[in-house]
This record gives sequence, C-alpha cells and structure tokens, in this order.
Amino acid sequence: MENKTAAVAMRNITKRFGPVLANDKVWLDIYRGEILALLGENGSGKTTLMNMLSGIYFPDEGTISIDGREVVIRSPKDAFDHGIGMIHQHFKLVDVLTAAENIVLGLPGRLDLKAASGRIREICDAYGFEVDPDQKIYDMSVSQKQTVEIVKVLYRGADILILDEPTAVLTPQETDRLFAVLRNMRDDGKAIVIITHKMHEVEALSDRVAILRHGQFIGDMPTKMTNAQEMTNMMVGHAVTLNIDRPDPVDPKPRIEVKGLTVRSIDGILKLDDVSFTANSGEILGIAGISGCGQKELLESIAGLQPVESGSICYIEDDGTKEELIGKDPLSIQEMGVSLSFVPEDRLGMGLVGNMDLADNMMLRSFRSGRSLFTDRRSPQHLAEAVVRDLEVSTPGISTPVRRLSGGNVQKVLVGREIASAPTVLLTAYAVRGLDINSSYTIYDLINRQKASGVAVIYVGEDLDVLLELADRILVLCGGKVSGIVPGRGAKKRDVGLMMTKLGGNADE
Ligand SMILES: Nc1ncnc2c1ncn2[C@@H]1O[C@H](COP(=O)(O)OP(=O)(O)OP(=O)(O)O)[C@@H](O)[C@H]1O
Ligand SMILES: [Mg+2]
Repeated sequence: MENKTAAVAMRNITKRFGPVLANDKVWLDIYRGEILALLGENGSGKTTLMNMLSGIYFPDEGTISIDGREVVIRSPKDAFDHGIGMIHQHFKLVDVLTAAENIVLGLPGRLDLKAASGRIREICDAYGFEVDPDQKIYDMSVSQKQTVEIVKVLYRGADILILDEPTAVLTPQETDRLFAVLRNMRDDGKAIVIITHKMHEVEALSDRVAILRHGQFIGDMPTKMTNAQEMTNMMVGHAVTLNIDRPDPVDPKPRIEVKGLTVRSIDGILKLDDVSFTANSGEILGIAGISGCGQKELLESIAGLQPVESGSICYIEDDGTKEELIGKDPLSIQEMGVSLSFVPEDRLGMGLVGNMDLADNMMLRSFRSGRSLFTDRRSPQHLAEAVVRDLEVSTPGISTPVRRLSGGNVQKVLVGREIASAPTVLLTAYAVRGLDINSSYTIYDLINRQKASGVAVIYVGEDLDVLLELADRILVLCGGKVSGIVPGRGAKKRDVGLMMTKLGGNADE
C-alpha cells in the first residue's frame, strides 16, 4: 500500500470529563481524498474526539499532527488556521442574521458583504450547494441551515471537514444531495470525516470506517471489506442480532377511532384529507409516508396539539364508551393516557432542559398513577434511576445535567420518560433518530413491551425496513390521504413504497 502522510494523525489521545474517560489513548489517521466514517455506540466518544480537532476541547494526553507536523489546537480559530472545520450536531448560527452575515461573522478585517456574497456563490458553484447569501437563517429549513454551516467552514479555507451526524436532520432526498457534495469535495482532495449511526449511509458513502468503543479505538478497515453486522459487533463488543420481534397482538380492542379527519395548515394548505382508521390496544400501527405527508399533523391532532377542520377522533374505553378528543386541551388528553413522544430534529429543543439534571427533567412531565413499565416511581429520582438502568443510559449519575450527555443518551431519557408515564396510547415519532443500532433495538424492544402490556402504539419512523418488521398493520399516507392499510406481516417494501407515492398524480383515487 502507498505510504501517504496522514492529513491528521491523532496519537494516544486521552480525554476525561471528571470520572468519565471519554477518549482512552486513541490513535486515528485521517487522509485527504478519502471519506472516513467514524462509528461507535452513543457515548463512545466520537464527538469528543472530533471536538479536540476543532478546538472545542483540549486533550489531557496525546498529540495531534497535521501533514506530519505536530500542532497545538487550543481554539476553533487554531483549528481553522490548520484547515479544520466541523459541522456540529447542534447548529451554531445566529437566527436574525443572513447566510452571508453568519458566514463572515467573527472573521478579522473590514466587513465587505458584497465581496463575501461573491465568494459564497463561487463556493456553492464549485461543489453544487444552493445558498442564498441574503436569506435570513430563521427563514431556512434545517437542511439549508446545515448548508450554511458547511459553506461557512469552506469559506474559512477548511480542507479537513468533520460532519457530526449531518443526516440525522435530513430527508432521504436532502441526504442524497449532501452526499453528492461530499463526494465532490473528496474528489477535490479534501479529507472528510462523517459520524453517522446509519449503516446504509456508511456503506454508500465512506471509503474507510474507524470504530470506537467505550472511548477506545477498536479498529479501522476499508468499507468494502466489511458489512453492517461486523461493524455493529465491533461497536458493541459482542455479537448482536439485528432482528425485531413481532409477537401477535393479544386481545386487540379499538382504542382510537379516527373518522374523516381533515386538517389544514395556518396558510390554508390541506395537510390531512378525510383520514379514517382505528388503532387497537395491544397493537402497533405503523404510519408510512414520505416526509411531510401528514404524519406530524396526524399525531398532533390526536394529542390535541393541532387545530382540526373537520372529522372526529374518539378515545374508546375498555367498556366501549367513546369520548371525543377534538376540542379537548392537550393536558386533558394526556391525562386520559395518550402520550406523544415526538423526537424533533433538534433533540435538545424537545422538552428537556439542558441545564437540569435527569431527575428534575422527569418532573417536567406530569404522570398518571397506574401501571408502568418502570414499577418504582415513588420519586423522580427513582424514575430517573429506572430509566437509566432499563435503557442503559450512559451517564455518571442521575444528577448529571442533561446537556452533558451524548446526543443518543439524551434521547433515551426523553423516550423513557414518555414510556414511564404508563400511557394507554403511545404516539411515537422518530424515536430512534440519532440512536446507535444497539440502542435502536432497545427502543424497538421497549415499544414491543408496551404493545404486550396492552398499549395502542402508533409508530412513525423514517426507516421503512423497520416499519415492515415492527408494525402489525401499516397505514400508508400519501399527500395527506390514506392510500391503504396493510398487514405488516408479509407486506412488501416495494408495494408500500409505491403506495407512498401512488396518489401523486391521481388525486381522485
Ligand atoms: N462536556 C462534557 N462533560 C461531561 N461529560 C461529557 C461531556 N461531553 C461528553 N461527555 C461524556 O463523554 C462520553 C462521550 O461522549 P460523546 O458525546 O463524545 O459520545 P458520542 O460517541 O458522540 O455519542 P452520540 O452517538 O450519542 O453522539 C459520554 O459518556 C458523555 O456523557
Ligand atoms: Mg456525538
């Protein structure tokens, strides 16, 4: 093999946060003209390791060399001076400023926005980005904001680019577009590191993979020489089965009955069009559909968070009594046992307070009395301990502020809190967003346990393969209409995929 000098060589890098050994004598080489996927479970130290390259943290031990020369990176500015730019899990843009203003923000010298806009357009043309330099950040979609972040680091001359879970917030189409840009940059000789939990992305995009486990470097290899199962085993440290159970529903009874539900957005666009279905207790109803086809509005209507134009949503008690949910406030609906856990793109903005510890975050949610998966709910402390134990949340303790946890662990706390509320109806959207494979399977298992205990689960997820394995029935939405409800067992991915787009050109069907 050709002996290239690494663009970045990390040697013996160790980083502690109090009692937590986040990185333990890590060796890692990063090369130009290559896309490296950095893999590992939630909390394995990926973000921490990359933060030492981008000047956010300083290593306790070890050295970093750029192109064979040892360097000291003490600040993001030092990192930029060495050509390193990082796109973080949580964006750091100023909302009220334009793209161009954000991109030049903090740079020395006189501010010449006109020249900056020109240079921004050049960068966009070179790699195939679309950014309007004059657009304000608050007017942008998540994907556009991410593009601004990338252009910002390129503007500062970065040729070593680190992206921390960039696709966690993107639709499949936006992901494809990002990957095309990243390939262009790689072919242009840049070094690219991408952190992702999605194995199909690793396989589609990366040239090489490097794996961390509990802060240690476990190994690296060309992507072509490995597969999802082997990578997962290396991340976890033992063989894991990537199967999802689908036990038969026990005694399913109608729990939520939706009839003729029609919802319009504030600007008058039809979001749900005459939607009717029943969700049963002890059953998982999966919702399939392309992004923006009405899943969000559907769950939010049931939870009382969405103004409804017409139709009815009934909660059906065990004895058959029906109660109309439309018109009730969200808290009353929650108290009836309907729990909504919607994991948004920005995980910290979703009902957890970063500066508060785990136990205090448990108290932010009112809990019904009654059965729960977590039996010991005498206090928020006990509840927090139960969630940490059952979901294997990686944290020094329950008095750790939530913002100190790794992204995936924050999410386990959030989902665990909803499940702990002992719901009779669990509305869950994007529950595994940002979770590592193993944790994702823990969540699928938890959802199955909810089903087994009689909860009516309505599951919205991005991964169609998972939906086909997990759901008892699949309701396919297309442009706000139900294009069909099919049994999960035996459903074909191709058929469901077609139903997801079927009404596209034929609105009368
Ligand atoms: N500022 C901090 N203070 C205390 N502990 C921290 C801090 N940052 C990270 N940690 C801890 O260090 C460990 C590694 O965290 P890191 O964020 O690097 O993991 P990760 O591999 O990026 O995980 P994820 O896939 O969930 O994003 C975790 O146990 C985390 O709780
Ligand atoms: Mg991380």
